[in-house]
Amino acid sequence: MTNTIAEHQASSTITLSPKQQEQPESLIVIGQGILDTLESLVPLSDYTARFILTDQNVYADWVKPLAERIGASVIQVPSGEQHKVLSSVEYVCRCLMKGRADRKALLINVGGGLIGDLGGFAASVYMRGIDFVQVPTTLLSQVDASVGGKTGVNLESVKNMIGAFQQPVAVLVDVNTLKTLPKRELLSGFAEILKHGIIADEAYFEWVVSSWQAGSETFDWVQCVEKSCHIKAAIVSADEKEAGARKLLNLGHTIGHAFEAASYKTESPLLHGEAIALGLVAEAHLAERTGIAAAGTCERISEAFKALGLPTSIEAHFVTEELMAYVHSDKKNLGDRILWSLPTRIGQAVIDAEVELELVEEALKIVQR
Ligand code: GLY
Repeated sequence: MTNTIAEHQASSTITLSPKQQEQPESLIVIGQGILDTLESLVPLSDYTARFILTDQNVYADWVKPLAERIGASVIQVPSGEQHKVLSSVEYVCRCLMKGRADRKALLINVGGGLIGDLGGFAASVYMRGIDFVQVPTTLLSQVDASVGGKTGVNLESVKNMIGAFQQPVAVLVDVNTLKTLPKRELLSGFAEILKHGIIADEAYFEWVVSSWQAGSETFDWVQCVEKSCHIKAAIVSADEKEAGARKLLNLGHTIGHAFEAASYKTESPLLHGEAIALGLVAEAHLAERTGIAAAGTCERISEAFKALGLPTSIEAHFVTEELMAYVHSDKKNLGDRILWSLPTRIGQAVIDAEVELELVEEALKIVQR
């Protein structure tokens, strides 16, 4: 299925500048047709060789013409979360080595979150680090995964357990790639978009919902991706390594990751955004029950997701103990303490909140029917 993306949406540039300056600035360019002008945005002649990491979902439409034009070697990996593992990192590194990539080679990751996370991690360890560019082609990766330098792979079924913080030299977002994205995947991107509104900007939250309801064909993707990248880049610039404020970006993820990981063992795995929508609703319920969030916050989030076509509940087939085991393995936790990022209202959230375990179990049940 293809989507209607309005033509002639302007382009925009954002700079992500880590405050601690441990890493150089990263340029984020958002617009239509960005892939057609990649060579004017990245100084390709500074590099001894160019490699593109991708999967079969985007190879024919987006990668083949680009690779031919810029003379890049293509490394393909299979799509699917089961391939987001350490052996895939080794495979990419082997391909780079076979292709005689040296320290001045460039890796361009063209695809969804898996490609960006895997390619970014491979680039951060190959020869102890080579430059890479993120070209996210799914809405979810355009507004979240490609920005902020988190790279990595899963370990057993725990998400992103092995990885590194490594900023790409550039993130190039071409919203034209959304045209070939299946509708379910497109909608799943709205979970991270609404999350940005919930943690930082009520007007943006409202704008996304009302603009989508006014008609998907007139929805301004450039404005939407730009606003989300702005919110995320500001947070990451202040706290690149997630010592504090960056934990806000994990809103909905403690419970969301639990549903996502548990669903991989079923016949109907959830998309990341679908799981995060469930996580945001459940965690808003938790925040209300503990008095952290204003009354009605959960209801507003739930209504917004319904309007955007995302699930707010799921048929119950999960064992609470299994979900709780994932909650206990969340990367924000310290020792036995489960530390939550929770909303206080739409537009504001807190980090490091601690809540009673019975309320967590109740929140898990709220989104299962
Ligand atoms: N996806 C959350 C973060 O980048 O921090």
